[in-house]
Amino acid sequence: MNAVKDLNCTDEICKLDTTGMFEALKGLPVQCDRACWDLAGHVELPEIEAISNIVVTGLGGSAIGGDLLRVYTAGKMAVPVIVNRDYVLPGFVGPDTLVFAVSYSGNTEETLSAYEEARLRGASVVAVTTGGRLGELAARDGVPLIGVPGGISPRAATGFLFIPTLRVLQRLGLLPDNVDEISEMIDYMRTLQKELAPEVPAEENQAKQLAQKLFNRIPVIWGSSGTTEVVAQRWKGQINENAKAPAYWNVLPELNHNEIVGFQFPKELLKKLHVVILRDERDHPRVHKRIEITREVIRDVVDGCTEVWASGEGDLSRIFSLIYTGDYTSVYLAALYGIDPGPVKVIDYLKRELRDD
Ligand code: PA5
Repeated sequence: MNAVKDLNCTDEICKLDTTGMFEALKGLPVQCDRACWDLAGHVELPEIEAISNIVVTGLGGSAIGGDLLRVYTAGKMAVPVIVNRDYVLPGFVGPDTLVFAVSYSGNTEETLSAYEEARLRGASVVAVTTGGRLGELAARDGVPLIGVPGGISPRAATGFLFIPTLRVLQRLGLLPDNVDEISEMIDYMRTLQKELAPEVPAEENQAKQLAQKLFNRIPVIWGSSGTTEVVAQRWKGQINENAKAPAYWNVLPELNHNEIVGFQFPKELLKKLHVVILRDERDHPRVHKRIEITREVIRDVVDGCTEVWASGEGDLSRIFSLIYTGDYTSVYLAALYGIDPGPVKVIDYLKRELRDD
C-alpha cells in the first residue's frame, strides 16, 4: 500500500481504510446515543442487595471502557471500580461484587476465564458482548446480557462498550442519573466530528496536524492523574492498533518521580520522541505547574512537545473530546504510514495460535 503524503487527499486516505474505521469514527455520536437509550435500558438486572465493589473484566478495546468508568465514577460514587485485564480475578471478588464481563467478540479467552471465575465466586455478573462464547455462556447461565451491535472493531465500539455500564450503575441506584450529561457529550462530539473529519484540510484539522508531528517519531503520551490518564492509555493503544506503530504513555505527577530521569540517554534516540501532553484546565493546579517545569526539562532533548487540551462542558464531553482527537490522529497516522487502520493481524494470529494449542 502507498503511504499518503498529503493528508488533504481525502480519497487516498479513505482508500486505505478497508474496514470503515472513518465511518465508525463518524458514527461515534450516534453509537453513544444508541448505547444510552437502546442497549442498557431494557436489560433485566439482577437483584442486588449490597454492592461493595465493581470489576470490569476485559482486554484491549473492550477494557478501556472499564477505565473510563473507573475515572468517571471515581468522585461520584462510593463504590470503587477496578479494571481486570487477566484470566483471574482479584481475591476480593465475591457475592458483594458486580462484575461486567466485556468482550466485543465474546471469544477472548482471558475474559471467558474471568467470567467463569466470577460465577464460581457468586458475584453478580452482567455480560457486554456482540455474542460469541460469552453470549452463549450468559444465555446458559441466565446472566443479564447487553447485546452490542457487531461489524466494527472493538476499539471503535467504545460508546457501545462503555455507556451501557454507566447506565446499569444508574439503574441500580449506584450513580446519579446523568443522561443530560451524556446528551451534552453526544452533541459536542457532533461538533468535533465536523472539525476532525477527513474532508477538513490539515491547516484547520488538529488531528491531521498531530499525525504529521507524530509521523516517523515515537509518540510518548502523558496524561495527568484523573481522566486524562486513561485517555493517554487510549491514545497509545489507538496508535499501536490503527497506525501499527509503537507509542508509550505515562501520567503526572508519577512520571516526575521516575520517567523524567530517563530523558538523558541515548541522545539520538531521544530526538525521535515526540511528547504529547493531554491537559485539562480542571487538572490539579500543582500538576499544571509540574507540566510547565517538565516541558522545560525535556525541551532540548526530544523532537518536540505538543499539548492537547480537553474541551466541552461536562466531564464526559471533556474526556471524549480528547479521545476523539486521539482516535482521528491515529487513523491519519496510519494513512501517513500507508497502512490500513482496521486489521490487527498480529492480535488475530496470537488468538489463533492460542486457540489451536
Ligand atoms: O481492538 C482490538 O481489536 C483488541 O484490542 C481487542 O479488543 C482485544 O483483543 C479483545 O478482544 P475482544 O474485544 O473481542 O474481547
